Amino acid sequence: MQTATLTKSVLIVDDQLTVRQLLHEVARKAGYDTWLAENGLKALEMTRECSPSVIIMDIKMPVMDGLEAFRLIHQEFPEIPVILMTAYGTLDTVVEAMKMGAFDYLVKPSNVNELRLMLDRAYQMRCMRAELAELRNELKKHFQLETIIGKSPAVQSIYKVVGRVAQTNATVLITGESGSGKEVIAQTIHRNSTRRDNPFIKVNCGALPEGLMESELFGHEKGAFTGAVAKKPGRFELANGGTMLLDEIGELPLALQVKLLRVLQEKTFERVGGTETIKVDVRIVAATNRNLEERVQQGLFRADLFYRLKVVPIHVPALRERVEDIPAFVDYFVRRYADEAHVEVPIVSPEALKLLCRCPWPGNVRELGNVLERAVILSQGVIDVMDLPGLLPAEELPVVAVPESGTYREQMHRVEKQIIENALRQNNGNRVKTAKALDISRRALLYKIDEHGLGQTGLGPDAQEIE
Ligand SMILES: Nc1ncnc2c1ncn2[C@@H]1O[C@H](COP(=O)(O)OP(=O)(O)OP(=O)(O)O)[C@@H](O)[C@H]1O
Ligand SMILES: [Mg+2]
Repeated sequence: MQTATLTKSVLIVDDQLTVRQLLHEVARKAGYDTWLAENGLKALEMTRECSPSVIIMDIKMPVMDGLEAFRLIHQEFPEIPVILMTAYGTLDTVVEAMKMGAFDYLVKPSNVNELRLMLDRAYQMRCMRAELAELRNELKKHFQLETIIGKSPAVQSIYKVVGRVAQTNATVLITGESGSGKEVIAQTIHRNSTRRDNPFIKVNCGALPEGLMESELFGHEKGAFTGAVAKKPGRFELANGGTMLLDEIGELPLALQVKLLRVLQEKTFERVGGTETIKVDVRIVAATNRNLEERVQQGLFRADLFYRLKVVPIHVPALRERVEDIPAFVDYFVRRYADEAHVEVPIVSPEALKLLCRCPWPGNVRELGNVLERAVILSQGVIDVMDLPGLLPAEELPVVAVPESGTYREQMHRVEKQIIENALRQNNGNRVKTAKALDISRRALLYKIDEHGLGQTGLGPDAQEIE
């Protein structure tokens, strides 16, 4: 870990001029800039003004003593290590100072070497704290990126609801097409809530058959069913104190819907095969890409559960309904994937951006992300329309131009190259699909790719490896 570098500086606080001078000499020789103060009040003012990297301070001083000054400084600048000094070495004050978070203490008169060592240790601690703060900031930046992107009115109003609802325990129902960002929003709610340090547990309600799903959610007792060789806590117990995302809630079998309703209303349940009533404190966020109202009408989803879940409904619009957010997503994904692939962030040409903005994106943000990941890897500094092959409507594909010179054989050769190149682009470089589209064998295609040197363009065999 690279240590953050801060100016080596120390604020020396003592009511005796001789002590201040002595400490100043020692600190200066050890390479520190110094500031001097004669009482606690001055020390507080100077800390605010100069932000020293270390403070060394006497305890017994007039106006404001060292303990009181330390308390105030520590409250305001917890990152600055403070060494306290006492002429008396009374254990009580020392214990008190350490309990309040002082870095260390010195008993006066002290040895110069000891003082220097302590100063250096305090300074190193200060650097480490600065570095941790920096790391935390970095993490925050990443977190920001993972939060809801977009400036469209729809996304803005989602932001507001998330902000208002995060601090509460209200159940949230997130609806929206696949890949639109429902899970991202559920996580944002969790991370902005007081539950953020407790688990965020996701359960896909459609992933398991009814029996297994019940034990997955509520746990089971030993011997509850064949194969239940030991007691196992369910996801609700694991999520205690945190948030549970019930994904694909529309798929939850009817029998489990009753049990879930009880958890929502009473916060209690029993494990499968158990009699003990378990109480949990879990915030529920449910998500679905289905029309739940329709499922209620079809008798597949309980109306009472539906209303209990949608205390706060959030609808995430499809990407095509918030086209104005696409440039921000493009920028985000291009940076992210370039970063992951350790390549320069490519430029997206205006034409490519236009094309990206007018695609219908049935797979929403996820699909846009996938297309850009591929484009970033294949592009060489610039993402142009040709790097987004699958997106180009057939009528806009480059027309095969008939060469105007050369022998019949040469002209045919060039036309053939263009036909194969276009077909490869249209099929994202996938050789199997391209061969099918051209109605030739895969071997014949490979031969042609080789013959025309198309393997080097990012559309031949090399591109295939990336899939
Ligand atoms: N606002 C956003 N900011 C950053 N990334 C996003 C955003 N919305 C979606 N994504 C990205 O798009 C992908 C799909 O998002 P997510 O998994 O949240 O969708 P979903 O609606 O839960 O999809 P599904 O219905 O398929 O479960 C993820 O990789 C996610 O990182
Ligand atoms: Mg999801």
